[in-house]
Amino acid sequence: MEQASTLLFSKHWDVYQEIIANNYMLHREIADYFERSFAHIEEKKGIRVLDLGCGDAGQIAGTLKFKQVDHYTGYDLSQPALDLARANLQDLPAIKEFVCGQMEVLIKQEQEHFQLVYSSYAIHHLQDSEKKQLLTDACRRLAKGGIIIIIDVFRKQGQSRDEYLDSYISWMGESWTAIDLPGKELVWEHVRQFDFPTTIENIIEWSAELGLTVIKHFSPDGRHHMLTLKRTRYAE
Ligand SMILES: C[S@@+](CC[C@H](N)C(=O)[O-])C[C@H]1O[C@@H](n2cnc3c(N)ncnc32)[C@H](O)[C@@H]1O
Repeated sequence: MEQASTLLFSKHWDVYQEIIANNYMLHREIADYFERSFAHIEEKKGIRVLDLGCGDAGQIAGTLKFKQVDHYTGYDLSQPALDLARANLQDLPAIKEFVCGQMEVLIKQEQEHFQLVYSSYAIHHLQDSEKKQLLTDACRRLAKGGIIIIIDVFRKQGQSRDEYLDSYISWMGESWTAIDLPGKELVWEHVRQFDFPTTIENIIEWSAELGLTVIKHFSPDGRHHMLTLKRTRYAE
């Protein structure tokens, strides 16, 4: 049985597609950022990608096709989203795995190492302690010379979750003019129930503890952030 937190993205994938089409969550900038990030991966061939909370993978499918990717693994809680991801990636000449479950659990069972561990608009569903643990596990699964890319919404430092929600929801109300009221209400309800963004400062602090260095940080609007991390210190 599907979990309530994923229903917005499986039953109402069309609303999310409208959000993407209107670039409200900066998916165009993300696509560009994603494309350029490959230059930071030391391995140039046989790249293995792990996508945490991949959804339909529609945003990255176009770029992946032109990179030397030979293995793609996508985790998502929603089987309908994974079915769409399989279809969106059908032209990718790589071994593909689509695994349904909690990314924070699945990553602990993962045996592979990846040149790219990617997560876009998914980790804000986790509590902070779970995000930190996921980052730790992502770091463990990172191949030498690989990168982690995190794209997400973040609270500002000193902003409470309630303040963040009020600000984001009122911004959506004013700016998301192409989404009708029932569509907006669906998103508002989802955000109020399931979004627990942390601050970008927390991610950077946890990364430093893990020996991960920020090599790129881009946030054109201060709400949506793109972060690339690379491991520069190896304990083992
Ligand atoms: C906003 S969508 C983002 C999809 C895609 N990464 C993108 O950027 O377009 C968030 C996705 O995260 C998935 N998700 C939420 N919590 C998750 C969890 N704990 N483990 C795995 N997937 C999760 C949802 O099912 C949904 O497909």
